[in-house]
Amino acid sequence: MKKQLHPVKRRKLVILGTGGTIAGKAAHASDNIGYTAAQVGIDQLLAAIPALAASGLIISEQVSQIDSKDMSFDVWARLAARVRHFLADDDVQGIVITHGTDTLEETAFFLQLTCQPAKPVVLTCAMRPATALVPDGPQNVMDAVAVARHPEACGVVAVCAGTVHSAMDVQKVHPYRLDAFSSGDACPVGYVEEGKLRLLRNWPVPQAGIACEAIEKVATWPRVEIVMNYAGASALTVQALVDQGVRGLVVACTGNGTIHEDLQAGLLSAQAAGVRVVRSTRCPDGRILPLPGNTIADSQGLSPVKARIALMLDLITEDQRPSAAGQT
Ligand code: SIN
Repeated sequence: MKKQLHPVKRRKLVILGTGGTIAGKAAHASDNIGYTAAQVGIDQLLAAIPALAASGLIISEQVSQIDSKDMSFDVWARLAARVRHFLADDDVQGIVITHGTDTLEETAFFLQLTCQPAKPVVLTCAMRPATALVPDGPQNVMDAVAVARHPEACGVVAVCAGTVHSAMDVQKVHPYRLDAFSSGDACPVGYVEEGKLRLLRNWPVPQAGIACEAIEKVATWPRVEIVMNYAGASALTVQALVDQGVRGLVVACTGNGTIHEDLQAGLLSAQAAGVRVVRSTRCPDGRILPLPGNTIADSQGLSPVKARIALMLDLITEDQRPSAAGQT
């Protein structure tokens, strides 16, 4: 009789459910758009994927059940706490999160900055509800599990339609197609083909300097909003936001960070009054190339929604410093 001297122990995978179209239900199988998101519980969703049985030990938890257009700071804080909890467990190899596509890129970026995982945290989703004739959710979950099981995987990534995107670059670029995400000109991290990962570039690396414990007190998160530059843009919205105590503003600028002169005047006076202002570009690809004499900082390549999260976390970190808390 053969005895296995060193049995290989497969570590646990955790799957966290948050809602989205992947858990959506429509009245008819042929209806791909008139569905209600976030109806199927995570256990039921996974039970409908028999092939998962061959993927090792999986435990699941429902963290929220929402349409991701309604994503809130409360859900983000709860999700980050569960991610950190499971990442700290030596028996856990990685985490998969099922999520709506609409704000997936924001949650992915938020988790990358606040959890900075050395293990894989893989967000996945679907563009067709669970009741569709051909739902895309099950294959996306299988692909996400393959990525989370990869021995070298780390950081937060998104997996959709066989493509692995870094949390830093991923953006939803199509409202209907199954392959709805892009990494822009950064290119994807890799592809999943027949359950195998073909790696193209490095995994996302941890960013320095974000205090993750500080995000637990959601009520104290600073208000940061996005304003957009467009033909006829004015300072009206900026003034209204400043009057309401906004702490930070991200401008979705035209082109290489350009801003209408009227909006720019409002932003500069907000900045002079202590509001943090950051320029990002509304172009989906590329980044702002700064010029000497620029008076408003740029987002270092982050899209407007990600620049907003970075600025919010930066302000939270700033508020935590002893001098800000009045403890010298
Ligand atoms: C959502 O973002 O929750 C709904 C849309 C989707 O998942 O595709």
